[in-house]
Amino acid sequence: MSIRHSVIIDCDPGQDDAVALLMAYGSRDELDIRGITTVAGNVPLRLTQENARRVTELAGITDIPIYAGCARPIMRDLVTAEWIHGATGLDGCGLPDASMSLADGHAVDFIVDTCLAAADGEMTLAPTGPLTNIAMAIVKEPAILPKIREIVLMGGAMDHGNTTPAAEFNIYVDPHAAHVVFECGRPVVMLGLDVTHKAITTPARLDAIKRLGTPVSDSVAGMLTFYNKYDIDRYGMEGGPLHDPCVIAYLLRPELFSGRHVHVAIDTKSELSMGKTVVDWWDGNDQAANATVIDRIDADGFYALLTERLARV
Ligand code: RIB
Ligand code: CA
Repeated sequence: MSIRHSVIIDCDPGQDDAVALLMAYGSRDELDIRGITTVAGNVPLRLTQENARRVTELAGITDIPIYAGCARPIMRDLVTAEWIHGATGLDGCGLPDASMSLADGHAVDFIVDTCLAAADGEMTLAPTGPLTNIAMAIVKEPAILPKIREIVLMGGAMDHGNTTPAAEFNIYVDPHAAHVVFECGRPVVMLGLDVTHKAITTPARLDAIKRLGTPVSDSVAGMLTFYNKYDIDRYGMEGGPLHDPCVIAYLLRPELFSGRHVHVAIDTKSELSMGKTVVDWWDGNDQAANATVIDRIDADGFYALLTERLARV
């Protein structure tokens, strides 16, 4: 296989971010992973950066730098989600504390420097948490924009939110950052709840991962078993939606997904619907499209790809 993307993964591990990282680590023949940047989200930054290092060590990877980024949203106070991810943010993983070092420097500077050094259209940004680091890099150095091929993000929802009735967590936590990203003028692919809630980790899909019988699959099974509990109880589904690995799967096999190129606006004004992604699916406002909103997935194909890539780590 040849390299499909030169990519920076920006994340807030969180169990689903961790599975996304491991899926990416099993795909290095197709993904040139330049670095992992971490942001406050599911849990505070001191834990998201620790968790990214714990998972990277599980994969036995020593040549991909892990950076700490922004410790809070641009304008709002940080909102975290320990009630879903546990106090550590990675409950169920069965992993030791991190021993690998954090890379020197701030994540935003790493994103800026890496993009500036790249050719036009070379860099893909793959955020799976609040968009604070991505937005701050764009604001700090707009010259990175032509270097960005596309921003493939997990976040948003056309329909119901998961954090408020209106908003999905990543966008809710930092709606102002999301506004900067969706208005930046570079191609955005939005993998929101409309598609991730069609990627359900059923018992059969979880068993297929367990049958790999490796330290990676054991940790993933433990994380997903913990992480699924909240969603199973809340939504009454047979498993939890697997949000962040959808970003990696899109990078690897975009044909597993489909959606529509439409205009997306972010509500940054109303406390009632703060962080809502207002998706003009039927082009009612006649506004120029600024994102490809994904609403369909080949879920069996996604889980087969995920399991196959986890087996490689
Ligand atoms: O709403 C789900 C998203 O918020 C996922 O990325 C999860 O990890 C949290 O960051
Ligand atoms: Ca996340």
